[in-house]
Order: sequence, then structure tokens, then C-alpha cells
Amino acid sequence: MTLQDPKPAKAPAQVVDVTAITKEARHYLLDEHALKSELMAKIDKAFHEGIEKFSGPEIRRLVERDGLRNIHLHFPVEKVRLLEHYLLEVLADDLYYWSYRVGRDTLGIQNEFYIDHLIVMRIHYPHLVARKAKAEAILAPPYPTRERMRLGMAALRNPKMLGYAVSRAVAKKLEARRAKKSHAYDAKATHGNIAIPARAHGAHVDTWYGHSYDGINLWLSIDGVDEGNTVILYPGMFGQEVKFDPVSMYLAEGQATTRPLKYAMDPGQLLVLNPEMLHGTQVNISDQTRVALTTRINPHKPRFAKEAPFHFEYWYSSTDLEKKRWGRMSVFPHKEYLGQPSWTKGQPYKHENMISRQIDAKLELGGAAVDVGAIDEMRPGLRLSVDLQNAKAMIWNTKDGLKAYSRKCPHMGIDLVDGFQDGKEAFCPGHGMPFDIATGKSPCEAFKLRQYTAYEENGRVMLMHPKSAE
Ligand SMILES: [Fe+2]
Repeated sequence: MTLQDPKPAKAPAQVVDVTAITKEARHYLLDEHALKSELMAKIDKAFHEGIEKFSGPEIRRLVERDGLRNIHLHFPVEKVRLLEHYLLEVLADDLYYWSYRVGRDTLGIQNEFYIDHLIVMRIHYPHLVARKAKAEAILAPPYPTRERMRLGMAALRNPKMLGYAVSRAVAKKLEARRAKKSHAYDAKATHGNIAIPARAHGAHVDTWYGHSYDGINLWLSIDGVDEGNTVILYPGMFGQEVKFDPVSMYLAEGQATTRPLKYAMDPGQLLVLNPEMLHGTQVNISDQTRVALTTRINPHKPRFAKEAPFHFEYWYSSTDLEKKRWGRMSVFPHKEYLGQPSWTKGQPYKHENMISRQIDAKLELGGAAVDVGAIDEMRPGLRLSVDLQNAKAMIWNTKDGLKAYSRKCPHMGIDLVDGFQDGKEAFCPGHGMPFDIATGKSPCEAFKLRQYTAYEENGRVMLMHPKSAE
């Protein structure tokens, strides 16, 4: 049985301004939302039944005792995708219906609107636990039969959708034959060999991946998240044309990022955001699992960017969801529904307090020191970024003297040059990890920057890579 039938719409407890979400990327962290307690109870039940189904009653009991955020202590990482799949099978209709009610009652959208067919269940174990899992050992679930049937039914009702599905399959084949595509997302380039339950999403804008313009993402925290495993927002980047690499989907070199915003969220809290704002997920450096899910509303007919490698065209209309007509999926072929961003283009963000330079020398382990600049320019808070022949370094003048590190993030090797820094911390522009400038340490003991030595000599800043360095 799906969530209970609609009651008369109530005025939202907190007034949400939908136009401000789409045009200004205003975001809301809501304590209350439509059908919250009913939905949370259903999610909880589905989780525990799923855990029992895949790992037995004893594991279920332990997870019930310790909470879903501690699921990694008991439930094998190899079975996480099976569990995610099971949860979607059991909960999808409730989640579509809940999203519709949030759109109508909580966001107050009056006209017909749309709910994306795609729902993402996110069970991301603490990185240090999950990365021990071999990617190939993760059990992959099949595509849900019920979804296949629904898509089939929707296609029969809507011949346009059928024609579209056929032409898309043909286009896909043709495209695969083409040697090179300009925009060709490659999961391996994004995640390397990291197993899905250990993944984090690099900073991105959803339309890069073929999601619609003006979407409103509902990011539901199921059992709470902290700063070490939450979603990362960059409100300061909104309205800018953010440059990115169309294969790895990471930010392009030279794309400076603002301070990442990370909300700790209680169980059941809902973050409502415009995914046209740059966002990502924190690499899970918390000791708790990220248990969350996302659905998406479009306040009008979805429109798409032309360039994306694939598109999300299947939607439920609010009218059909109101009547729980699950077979009536709507399709919006992106070629017919091309769009434009609703935001006005702003000034690109540039780092203040940074000097970048290239030096035609090598930084050898145990080798001679390299002159990288004048000590006079090293005002407190300034980051000196140096590209050497064989290394990339960053140097600060702190109250404890000069501090120098490699710019390579120890998580996935992303260059920290484009990340925000405030003189105390430097952030990875990839997955939001903060590093303490005084020590090079992150909050996770496994991730520490490679330390170099910088010192002053005759008014010059000298950089070296001593043998004793960690
Ligand atoms: Fe996203």
C-alpha cells in the first residue's frame, strides 16, 4: 500500500519561494515536509526488512540497535547495491507520491508539475571501510522488472515515447561507433576503480549530466549526516558558467571554487536545492554511513541542455500522481524540449589571495632547494601556488612560519589549486575535503598532504622536498 490518500493541502510551515530556487538558487533545509513521519516510518521498515532479506535476522537486530548510520558495522559492503535496489523496488511509488505532495503542499506549486522517474538511493559507507571492498566483488542488481514493465506500458499508451525509445537505441549504437565524442561521460574517469558504496560525487551541475533546467532536488537525510559525509553546496558559484571536463566531469583546470557549504542534517530533514547550483558530495570522511535519497521535481515541463551525453526524459505529472496512475509516465524527448538556464550570468569567481607561477626547475626528493619568490610578497593568508617541472606546490606564510605542501589531493589526486582557502584551511575542489594549513592533515587520518619544506634565505622563499618529509 502506498502512502495515504491526499488530505486537503495545508499551508507550508516554512514559506518556500520556488521562483527564488530556480532563479537565484535559494535553498532550504526543512524540518517538516509533507507526509514526513509516514514516509520515514516506511523507509525505516523497508531498510530493516531488506537487511534481514540479504543478511538474516541477527544483522537486522544489530542494525536496529545501532542505527542505519552504523549499518557499515554489520551489513557487508558487497551487498549495498542489492539493498539499494530492493529499497527502490519497495519504496519507489511512495517516493514519487511523497515528492508530489512535497511539491504541492510544502513548496506550494499550484500548476501541473513533474517528478523525475529517476530516484537515487545513497548508502555510502565511510570511505576507509568501503574502499577495502573490491569494485568487482560488489553484487550488481538487475534493472527492476517493474520499471521495465511500466516504461513498456507508458510507451504503448504514448507511441511517441516508443518511437523515441527506438530512435534512441539506434542513435546509441551509431554513437558507440563514432571514434570520439566531444561530451562523453566516463564513469571510470570520474571514480577510478572505487567501488560504488565508497563513491563521492565531484562538484557538478546536474544539466551536465542531462538533467533538466530549473529542477528542484529533494535531498532527504534518512539517518542524519554530519559535515564529513553530507552534500556540498557552492551557492557562491550560482549564475556562472562553470567550466568542466566533459569526460571526467570534474571542474576544468583553472575553475576556481568558493567556500563549500556543508550542512549537518538530522534524520528526516530535507534539503531543497536547485541543482543548477554547483554541488557534490563530501568524500565520506565521517565514521558514519551516508544514508540519503534524492528525488527531483520540475515546476513546469522539463527542458534540457543539448550537449549532455544522456538525458532524463521520463517523468510523472502531478496530475497522474495525485490519482496514483503509475503507468502514465510522460516523456519529454530532449530534442523537442531544449532549454536555457533561468539564471542571469554573473561574474566568474576568481581567487583572491593567490599568486600562481611557473618555475623551470625540478623539486627532487632530498635535492637542492628551489627559489620560488620574494618573501615580501608572502603576506599572511596568501597562497603561493608553484608549478615546477615535476611537482605542484602551495606555500603559505603562517604565524608558525612558512608551510609548504604538494597540491595533489591524497584522495583522488585532484589539484588543490582551484579549491577555496581562507588561510586556515584549503579545500579540495573535487570532493570537498578540508586540509589544515598548519599541519597538512584532513579530519580523516588516512588523508594527509605531502609536506615540503619552505624557508626564507636572503629575502627569498626557498622550497625543498627533504628526505625526512612524510
Ligand atoms: Fe547532482
